Amino acid sequence: MANKIVFPENFIWGSATASYQIEGGVNEGGKGESNWDRFSHTPGKIMNGDTGDVANDHYHLWRNDIRLMKKIGLKAYRFSVSWPRILPKGYGKVNKKGLDFYNRLVDGLLKAGIDPYITLFHWDLPQALEDEGGWPSRSTVDAFVEYSDVVTKSLGDRIKHWTTLNEPACSAWLGYETGVYAPGVRDLPQAIRASHHLLLAHGLAIPIIRRNSSGAEVGITLNSNWTVAASNSALDLDAVRQGDGKWVRWFADPLYGRGYPSDIVADFERQGALPNGLDFIQAGDLKAIAAPLDFLGINYYNRGLVRVNHPNNEPQKIFLFPKTPENWTEMDWENYPDGLTGVLSRFYFNYQPLKIYVSENGASYSTPPDENGNVPDVHRTNYLKTHFAAAHRAIQAGVPLAGYFVWSLMDNFEWSFGFGQRFGIVWVNFETQERIIKDSAKWYKRVIRRNGF
Ligand code: FCB
Repeated sequence: MANKIVFPENFIWGSATASYQIEGGVNEGGKGESNWDRFSHTPGKIMNGDTGDVANDHYHLWRNDIRLMKKIGLKAYRFSVSWPRILPKGYGKVNKKGLDFYNRLVDGLLKAGIDPYITLFHWDLPQALEDEGGWPSRSTVDAFVEYSDVVTKSLGDRIKHWTTLNEPACSAWLGYETGVYAPGVRDLPQAIRASHHLLLAHGLAIPIIRRNSSGAEVGITLNSNWTVAASNSALDLDAVRQGDGKWVRWFADPLYGRGYPSDIVADFERQGALPNGLDFIQAGDLKAIAAPLDFLGINYYNRGLVRVNHPNNEPQKIFLFPKTPENWTEMDWENYPDGLTGVLSRFYFNYQPLKIYVSENGASYSTPPDENGNVPDVHRTNYLKTHFAAAHRAIQAGVPLAGYFVWSLMDNFEWSFGFGQRFGIVWVNFETQERIIKDSAKWYKRVIRRNGF
């Protein structure tokens, strides 16, 4: 059968994970405590009291996991490095065993013909740094630059793709404002300082990464859903401005040299969240944050329909259709492929990144193995198929999309949901660590081979 949808030649088909979500090995090989170790061991923070102590035991099973990737035919693998494995206290003494682990992993991937894409920070901060103030404290910026230097010196000869941060909006707003992620702080003024220090850490690390890993491309990953108002009321439209401004423009604008969006600064002022104004921005910071990028990673999952409760209006119904597994995933997120076309186009046409990757996209469905040992996760295949097609429409509109990383290679520790949400294209039995390639991964394998479907 001829392909209907063909992707550009050399399109990068990959899959993604993150250190805390899969590694386990919590106290092994000299690793220090992370803020997620501390958070997941705090009663009431994670569903079912789950922790990442063992998770997918990837720390021991990584060879097996590379074999799985090879079987699926992945061209690339996006993973993150655990900062406390490298610098148990956040800075200072380097733990060589931690570097050895990633060196072996990288060599194993290269040997298998899989291109490693490394993210330096996917949320697991050394707890020692959290104790010294975490991201709201400017000293964490220096520690990140030191950490980036150590990692890129060690792996920079073989790694061609570096991502500084994954979803700094989640680190700042979920970690320090709503407190649903580690470290569980609830304080908007601190969260705003955290957001600036995250961006600054990114910007200051870039020249170091380029120096240690010549010829490699460097970027950052932002998250965005497709935010739309549930009605044309002024309140709903303003809620979209606010939500999108705080979650997307607050990060993308300074990265692309525009400074912080003034309407969001005004929102924060109104909320009393800037008691000392923007005193945390020092001379040169905005220039450092706007360091040129080789690519932008975008994580997209769903549409965000925004409604404000109108005191004098009939409450509007937000989602007008009955929820089915086709239009609604188990994460309680809508399956809305057109939003991916929209988000990719919006980033490209508003900010002109040189190159874009979908650094994450995928769906949570818990479909278990059947009696024949297959995992018939048809809804995930449908989700991926419709989103690949949506990404292809963005390419046709001119978006320089170079690759796509399905979230996730395997079921794993889904942050505050613990093991209750399964995003993997590989099934994991968390008691036995058995892995089963799901039907969606078999379908993905054919897509990769044919570069389309
Ligand atoms: C993203 C995270 C990733 C995963 C997915 C479902 O926000 O980057 O680690 O948890 O959501």
